[in-house]
Amino acid sequence: MRTHYNTEVSENDIGKEVRLCGWVNSRRDHGGVIFIDLRDKTGLVQLVCDPKDNEEAWKIADSIRDEFVLIASGKVRYRGEGLENPNLKTGKIEIIVQNLTIENKSLPMPFDLGDEKVNEEIRLKYRYLELRTKKSLDIFKLRSKASIAARNALDKLGFLEVETPILTKSTPEGARDYLVPSRVHNGEFYALPQSPQLFKQLLMVGGFDKYFQIAKCFRDEDLRADRQPEFTQIDVEMSFCDQEDIMKVAENLLFNIFKACQKEIPTSFDRITYNEAMEKYGSDKPDLRYDLSMVDVIDIFEKSSNEIFTSIAKDKRRNRIKALKVPNGDNIFSKRQMKGFEEYVRKFGAKGLGYFQMKEDGLKGPLTKFFTQEDLTELINICDLKVGDVVFFGAGDKKIVLDYMGRFRIYLAEMMNIIPQDVFKFIWVVDFPMFEVEEGKVKALHHPFTMPKDFNQDIEDISSIAYDIVLNGVELGGGSIRIHKEEIQNKIFKLLGISDEEANQKFGFLLEALKFGAPPHGGFAIGFDRLIMLLSKSESIRDVIAFPKTQKAQCLLTNAPSEVDNEQLKELGLRVRKITTTEQ
Ligand code: AMO
Repeated sequence: MRTHYNTEVSENDIGKEVRLCGWVNSRRDHGGVIFIDLRDKTGLVQLVCDPKDNEEAWKIADSIRDEFVLIASGKVRYRGEGLENPNLKTGKIEIIVQNLTIENKSLPMPFDLGDEKVNEEIRLKYRYLELRTKKSLDIFKLRSKASIAARNALDKLGFLEVETPILTKSTPEGARDYLVPSRVHNGEFYALPQSPQLFKQLLMVGGFDKYFQIAKCFRDEDLRADRQPEFTQIDVEMSFCDQEDIMKVAENLLFNIFKACQKEIPTSFDRITYNEAMEKYGSDKPDLRYDLSMVDVIDIFEKSSNEIFTSIAKDKRRNRIKALKVPNGDNIFSKRQMKGFEEYVRKFGAKGLGYFQMKEDGLKGPLTKFFTQEDLTELINICDLKVGDVVFFGAGDKKIVLDYMGRFRIYLAEMMNIIPQDVFKFIWVVDFPMFEVEEGKVKALHHPFTMPKDFNQDIEDISSIAYDIVLNGVELGGGSIRIHKEEIQNKIFKLLGISDEEANQKFGFLLEALKFGAPPHGGFAIGFDRLIMLLSKSESIRDVIAFPKTQKAQCLLTNAPSEVDNEQLKELGLRVRKITTTEQ
């Protein structure tokens, strides 16, 4: 229908006839001459409807409103000295309209498309209108570039793109499954895949060697700013490989995606072990764009005359005493703020928050009286304190201390505004524990098909060949080398308390496949929505998904989930019994 997209028209076209299509972005009536900003996916161009040029077109222009759909033909002309708009790509020219068609009308907008503060409910209900904004379009252009770059990079490396089933059996990522009832087999259910994990392993048994998929995954879990019930992964698996080979592929993939999106990142990333990340940053996804880190001071506190500290220091396996230095903190924080910090960490289980200030004449603070001068000097050295620094202490149960000190680290960095916004800081976190023990129950930290490093240790000390890729404090992706031998898999199931019967019922098809010459294999998956969220600096994952769901997993546009006809239920052999909140 068009001769050009709007922003393709330039000074070079002055005097030429063009035909343009799009939406009315705005309309101004200047004493009988009507100016229209016409919008298409490329941007804006100014249409001029003057009764002197064409009375009929001007009459039509008089009746149009915002967001009407127009087709306009006319001649390109120079806007004139002093009338140029430097903010527009087409700011030097305008179109004198000879022929104007209203292709469709529009109701008034239910919200101001340019206003980002509009309540999210209304934006999600009319998501297709929000998608008309430049901000949204730019995100989806980036998303498209990124997925094409991912495909090209993996294709170049010899990976085969394969689709795996959506109607399938439960997979082991650990969230609740979304279930789909079967009509043909009443009383039986498919599960939507939490990831293509088991199928990609089967593709390795199938000899495909290198697989990838930009895969939809479904998890019924509590939603947060970076979680959706339905999300996308760039999912990769390869055979006859070790952790190094896989990391190289992931780094190459990310490098190429960033390059296609015009962002520079290094070709290889730093690494940190899970233990070091937890001990230094109190997190398995540390944000290393800034420098705050913790040191262990339990040995010094053990020598203090404070009973609370000495008794904590007795159990060095279960407990921690950690120091977090804030350079120049003594000059930055007021007394009131220091009190506020204690209130903050208490929310996460801290019993208190000790601190020392480094003054000209040595360490000061309520706790100094419990230490000898020698021990204080040791503290100064181990924390590398300079005059003006403050150092905070967390003491108690390891898990709790690392958690609240890790959160406190982020809280301080945000408060002090020391997080550089234009930096992409990747880090691999390696050597994850194989298991986590919660209330006496052993669970797989990644999933039960992850290869352990060895077995000759306490269950909590067994580490796995599993790795996460972290970007700016967000877990972007993760993966592992898988178990390809039946004996090891059975051993892991035993440790997890999964009986042979349960293992067979849930994953029998995989266990059987392992018996038919499964090659060594491993892989990873990158959360694609999270990646786009970080690349586009969006605050919510919902901004980077065309039709996202709310925090309560609803689609406000289609009203899903919704009730269905009794007829449909009958065919499925189902009867609905609503459960009360107490039953849940
Ligand atoms: P994992 O469960 O760690 O690994 O998921 C990989 C990545 O997927 C993203 N992600 C999500 N993104 C948005 N919403 C969610 N609800 C959500 N859940 C996960 C994260 C995460 O790092 N099969 C394994 C991978 C493997 O071992 O190869 C898996 O799915 O960015």
